[in-house]
Amino acid sequence: MIKQDRILAIDQGTTSTRSIVFDVNGRELSVARQEFPQYYPSQGWVEHDPEDIWRDALSTAQEAVERSGGVDRIAAIGITNQRETIVVWDRATGKPIHNAIVWQDRRTAKLCAELKEQGHEKLVTERTGLLLDPYFSATKLAWILDNVEGARARAEKGELAFGTIDSFLLWRLTDGAVHATDVTNACRTLLFDIHRQQWDDDLLKLFRVPAALLPEVKDSSGVFGESTPDLFGRPVPIAGIAGDQQAAVVGQTCFKPGTAKATYGTGCFVLLNTGEKPVVSRNRMLTTIAYRVKGKTAYALEGSIFVAGAAIKWLRDGLHLITHASQTDDMATRIPNSHGVYMVPGFVGLGAPHWEPDVRGLICGLTLDATEAHIARAALESVAYQTMDLVAAMTQDGGGTTSTLRVDGGMSANDWFCQFLADMLQARVERPRQIETTALGASFLAGVGVGLWNSLDDVAADWELGALFEPKMDLTERRTMIDGWHLAVRRALVKA
Ligand code: G3P
Repeated sequence: MIKQDRILAIDQGTTSTRSIVFDVNGRELSVARQEFPQYYPSQGWVEHDPEDIWRDALSTAQEAVERSGGVDRIAAIGITNQRETIVVWDRATGKPIHNAIVWQDRRTAKLCAELKEQGHEKLVTERTGLLLDPYFSATKLAWILDNVEGARARAEKGELAFGTIDSFLLWRLTDGAVHATDVTNACRTLLFDIHRQQWDDDLLKLFRVPAALLPEVKDSSGVFGESTPDLFGRPVPIAGIAGDQQAAVVGQTCFKPGTAKATYGTGCFVLLNTGEKPVVSRNRMLTTIAYRVKGKTAYALEGSIFVAGAAIKWLRDGLHLITHASQTDDMATRIPNSHGVYMVPGFVGLGAPHWEPDVRGLICGLTLDATEAHIARAALESVAYQTMDLVAAMTQDGGGTTSTLRVDGGMSANDWFCQFLADMLQARVERPRQIETTALGASFLAGVGVGLWNSLDDVAADWELGALFEPKMDLTERRTMIDGWHLAVRRALVKA
């Protein structure tokens, strides 16, 4: 009998979908990747076509399985996904009733401001660990129910299903047999009590969401269901699900309280493991569930930056300064310093710790000798400065002093960026050998889910250091640069 010792991880991100097959030592055997279209139907709106998402998830998964040598050795599927993005679909046909509304979408900023003015934020934060910001799912869901003809009535009758992307993919993989999600995705909706770990009736009422829409919420690890045999040639258990940032915590093996990771994708999300107890932030960080495995929950403090890789994508697609992201490494090293040029990448408002959905992006400090290299360097620096601000806020929150930050995702491949980050943080920056940590984390969860490993502790040995960056910048120079950054942020926050 063939040994089933490999795992397929599907990583459905904001701009691309990747599927990777890993072996039992966390080594990548094959990968397939697909970028997909972004829709901007109105100012501040961001949508995806759920059919694009399903098509790419399936085709990349099939391709990765094929390239790894076929389905015979695949023990399980793990899913990880862009969080907060929502889909509402018809339970009878499986067809979405509207495009997915993406986490970056600001269309519900006014509704959030109104709810805040009415004094609802306290309850929301106490129950969910989150804030009233359009970033999260609940107001997006209410928008669909209010704006798609007949949706609210159909939702109340139980004809529609709601889900984050994991839930939609699970539904499609099981051909509608399973409507579920995991705690890490549920806890980003504004509808889930992270302490009692269940959907919250008061919040459902506040956001006017019928309970009949909701998926069942499960551990991040364990069998959710099986894929239908036609998809891969035989049924494969789907045994791990986590939001991408939480999956990265697992992939970086940040299992001990006080350990932290930063993932650089479209945005950047710093998560600090705080152990079994949720820590309440005084600095507008989020309290979130890092994972729940075998009924045991680990919580995290989270700082969310909405634009990281997206700033580099803008240099490429908006400004046409570069043709490939990797060029920013050369550009940054070509000049001795940023020459006082700063970018505050508030393209979709600013996230933590400001939470200002209406702020816009800003480039300042320009002189006639500023070049495209200064702009590129300012973009990279802005991401490091924001990471530094988040880590400082978490430290103040009592999350512990972070002497080491583990980094992953696209921008972490840039050595110059990692060194600058270490200088700004005054901490060690560790980059693992495998920087597709999100997918790796989903594979670990699925592996534990089918018993390839007994517990997450068993996978910790699979983490391998790829590169280490230690602070070396002169401290006075560092202080001057940071002061300039904070001045630029204050300028961006000035209301027009
Ligand atoms: O909260 C949004 C986040 O999950 C998106 O992740 O990797 O697409 O930037 P990413």
